[in-house]
Amino acid sequence: MLNINEIRNQFPILNQKINGNQLIYFDNGATSQKPIRVIDTISNYYKTSNSNIHRGVHTLSRTATEQFENARTTIANYFNIENPQQLIFTSGTTDSINIIAQGLANGVLNNGDEIILSSYEHHSNILPWQLWAERNNGTLKIIPLLENQQLDLDKLESLITNKTKVIAIAHVSNTLGLITDIEKISTLAKKYNLVLVVDGAQSAPHMAIDLQKLDVDFFVASAHKIYGPTGIGMLCMSEKWLQNLPISKTGGGTIKTVSFDKTEYAEGALRFEPGTPNISGAIGFAEAINFINEIKIDTIYNHELDLVQYAQKKLEEIPEVEIYGRAEIKAGVISFNVKNQHPFDVGTLLDKYGIAVRTGHHCTQPLMHCLGIQGTIRISFAIYNTRTEIDFFIEKLKKVIQMLS
Ligand SMILES: Cc1ncc(COP(=O)(O)O)c(C=O)c1O
Repeated sequence: MLNINEIRNQFPILNQKINGNQLIYFDNGATSQKPIRVIDTISNYYKTSNSNIHRGVHTLSRTATEQFENARTTIANYFNIENPQQLIFTSGTTDSINIIAQGLANGVLNNGDEIILSSYEHHSNILPWQLWAERNNGTLKIIPLLENQQLDLDKLESLITNKTKVIAIAHVSNTLGLITDIEKISTLAKKYNLVLVVDGAQSAPHMAIDLQKLDVDFFVASAHKIYGPTGIGMLCMSEKWLQNLPISKTGGGTIKTVSFDKTEYAEGALRFEPGTPNISGAIGFAEAINFINEIKIDTIYNHELDLVQYAQKKLEEIPEVEIYGRAEIKAGVISFNVKNQHPFDVGTLLDKYGIAVRTGHHCTQPLMHCLGIQGTIRISFAIYNTRTEIDFFIEKLKKVIQMLS
């Protein structure tokens, strides 16, 4: 039986008042809060094991290396990655996508090639590809939206030409919470021999992900949205790319031998991890995965789905509210607007009641353009949120609507 109070007690930040009210944190899509075990793990690492990794023979260095590599194995096991070396630590989703795009730009993508994105991509999964396209006469092709704001995946095949090389797509829309059918896209990517890049920033926090089953070329995510620390994330690549993706960042740690004439690079993950990595971050990330494993990701998914369905129903009962991307099955996120009101005004007034929501374009300006709006109010859930919080939020939202009208 899920004991939410017990879970909430593990998050010290939740136990505070904001503007005189108990904090209600509905901005988990931006970053989730961290359980005390993650905070303690990072703190203990600095208190007991801090040292640089991989190159030291002394005890502390070996301990830190072991903790860092164990973290890689814990996270790889969680995502069912066959070989932990396929999991590269990066600073987050944005960094991971840049590494992929710059790697593919070095010898995989050719002048004039085409890349397919979706209408609901986060800017982090647009700009690295756009930059490449601007410099190389390339074209971005966009999967359109249906009337109900789901992606029109039936149009995908018609976008593919003999110049198409990559499909880069979000697993879950950070603005709408809609889940992309990656298996359908993967079938097409395989049929046309395209590289498939999946942005898992918003799926990893909410649903079980089996990367052997998903079988995509690249999958990326950020620890800070999955109860882990900021500044650390993952880039998982298939064995093929682990051997073949051209490196775009080099430096200490990535090599076997260096001379002024020639460098022989290391194999495996180290090849893509130049410089001193975020050691405490990786260890904290693994502890966040231990936290999830104890609760079980399916329990988290079901709890958040219940919250989404409950909140969506309550929001629909308010005549002034318009929901975007309404669907029964979603991953933890709802976007809406209050008719004739600016999302910032609504968000600012909700903050007065201690309710943290996100307002604006959510780094999806092209999606806002498709929807014909400037921005939305977004509520996004985590395991520690409750129906009681939603009830309070709905009550205060109604009050805010009254105040603004
Ligand atoms: C779908 C999606 N992609 C990419 C990112 C960027 O993640 P980060 O800022 O952790 O690199 C986000 C962050 O909100 C996101 O939601």
